[in-house]
Amino acid sequence: MLVGLPGSGKSAVGRRLAGRHHAQFIDLDDLIEHRVGRPVPEIFAKEGEAGFRRYEREAVLSLGPADPDPELRRVIASGGGTIIDPRNRWLLYRGRFPVWLDSSAEILASRLIKSSNVRPLVAGRDTVPTLKKLAADRTRFYAPAFPISGTANVEAILRVLEERIGDGPSPAVTLLRADTAIGHVEIGYGNAAPAIAAALNRAQARRAILIAEPRTWEVAGAAIADALAAGGWPVERILLPRGERAKRMRVVEGACRQLARLHVDRKETLVAIGGGALTDAAGFVAATYLRGVPIIQVPTTLVGQIDAALGGKTAVDIPEGKNLVGAFHQPAAFIADVSFNATLPVRQRRAALGEVVKMAVLGDERLLELVEEQGAAYALGGPEAIESGAVAEIVERCAWAKVEVVTADAREANVRMTLNLGHTIGHGIEAAAGYKAILHGEAVAYGLRGAFATSLAMGLTTAARAERVERLLDELGLGVEPPVVTPEAVIEHMASDKKHALGKLNWVLPTESGVAIRSDVPAAAVQAGLAAALRLASGGRPKFDQATPSEAVIS
Ligand SMILES: NC(=O)c1ccc[n+]([C@@H]2O[C@H](COP(=O)([O-])OP(=O)(O)OC[C@H]3O[C@@H](n4cnc5c(N)ncnc54)[C@H](O)[C@@H]3O)[C@@H](O)[C@H]2O)c1
Repeated sequence: MLVGLPGSGKSAVGRRLAGRHHAQFIDLDDLIEHRVGRPVPEIFAKEGEAGFRRYEREAVLSLGPADPDPELRRVIASGGGTIIDPRNRWLLYRGRFPVWLDSSAEILASRLIKSSNVRPLVAGRDTVPTLKKLAADRTRFYAPAFPISGTANVEAILRVLEERIGDGPSPAVTLLRADTAIGHVEIGYGNAAPAIAAALNRAQARRAILIAEPRTWEVAGAAIADALAAGGWPVERILLPRGERAKRMRVVEGACRQLARLHVDRKETLVAIGGGALTDAAGFVAATYLRGVPIIQVPTTLVGQIDAALGGKTAVDIPEGKNLVGAFHQPAAFIADVSFNATLPVRQRRAALGEVVKMAVLGDERLLELVEEQGAAYALGGPEAIESGAVAEIVERCAWAKVEVVTADAREANVRMTLNLGHTIGHGIEAAAGYKAILHGEAVAYGLRGAFATSLAMGLTTAARAERVERLLDELGLGVEPPVVTPEAVIEHMASDKKHALGKLNWVLPTESGVAIRSDVPAAAVQAGLAAALRLASGGRPKFDQATPSEAVIS
């Protein structure tokens, strides 16, 4: 499977490679032209890039899965942009040996000038800057493939490839790899152990210090430890309690004492394997032990993979409140292995989709469609949503959106606030339920219903948009029954949030295609939001005390 920018030589190398190995050669652009009956530039001219990408996706699907029979080998040259689509990467990279022909923009430009092939995304533009921009946008998708310098001559490339192809394809696949301002990011399936080993190598670690909890050790940690040990890594294990009980000061103290007894020094890297509670607690340990040691976050829940383990917020709870003690501590690496979703309990899956719907409403229409198509199947716990690549796509879309938001605003001063969509009322409900009866994602779903009702009351969104999201939440079984909380308790917790925000509550409210941040929300709109979130009968209003506590909540 050959990938790379236009002009990188995918077709030339692919044809020669296939010829030498009596394999079938498939040039994806040729396949599309054959299926559609028109040349690629014409498809672009008539139907735009979106039309072309649709045909491209159908062509990728038509290839079917990789064939394990070595006698039926195929060499596939993808189009330059085929791998932008997460599902194409899932279909093309799994079970195959992806190779990235990597050349500088200058070299590619010099080749393209001589080529008679028209490249629609480059033609008529200043070639070198255009190619540099394409490279910046796409490197994270090419980077999981085995890199070969495209400046080498074809013979040399073939020799390197032939040596590697002998190893056969790996059952694990990496779908995205990037070095970002908030740490190295990798997303894949079955990729955890090799990605952890690579991250430890980059950190020049001498051993693997794994922090997990009993359940995540059973479903993920033990296999990772075995693979690391088989690769020659000495492995240490520290177990924290399961779930939210990990997020306590005395657990942090216990973990730090174990690290001290293991003589862990400041240069050593910890590896956290678990859900959001574990990665929050281990992250706080890493932020504070010896005033900060590096950590590799390996989330095992959907919440962890799309949100908690990414972005550097770490925290523990104290009796006075949840997440009240913490620190910003960006991980050295974030490694999401989608295969861990297979053992997640149904309630955890469903609740996590509350956060996914939130990310979609923030402005990712494709994500919204994806959850509409496959969300319910994933929530029910069947394997299809993982097998089809839908879960990998959900994780990638949410995690990368978070990378972009947090990179723009690491300490939550401004843009990052948009991630709080659904959290104003949602948090009030979660807190009123004592953080026990209602999971965070479930609370966000109630909060989303509330945010849409508030938005509608202010004319910021349309009834059609609000109904679409309500319908989706209904299908997912999120925020359907009235939460077992009193409106007064919810309002009290919202008022206390307001105090923490120095008197000014910023509401993140959905619009038609994204969100607006407003602090001037009228009391009537808040009441409409609360009524919707608390699932009060249509037209009902929360029974506030005569002082209209919403006035106290909203300035
Ligand atoms: N730091 C942040 O930015 C951030 C963001 C969102 C949430 N959080 C925090 O994350 C926590 C919630 O995280 P969570 O929803 O992942 O819950 P969790 O970590 O409590 O895990 C939920 C349950 O699933 C089990 N589990 C974990 N992985 C499993 C797997 N692969 N298969 C089977 N069972 C598995 C755990 O043992 C636990 O019982 C909260 O404490 C919340 O405050 C933090």
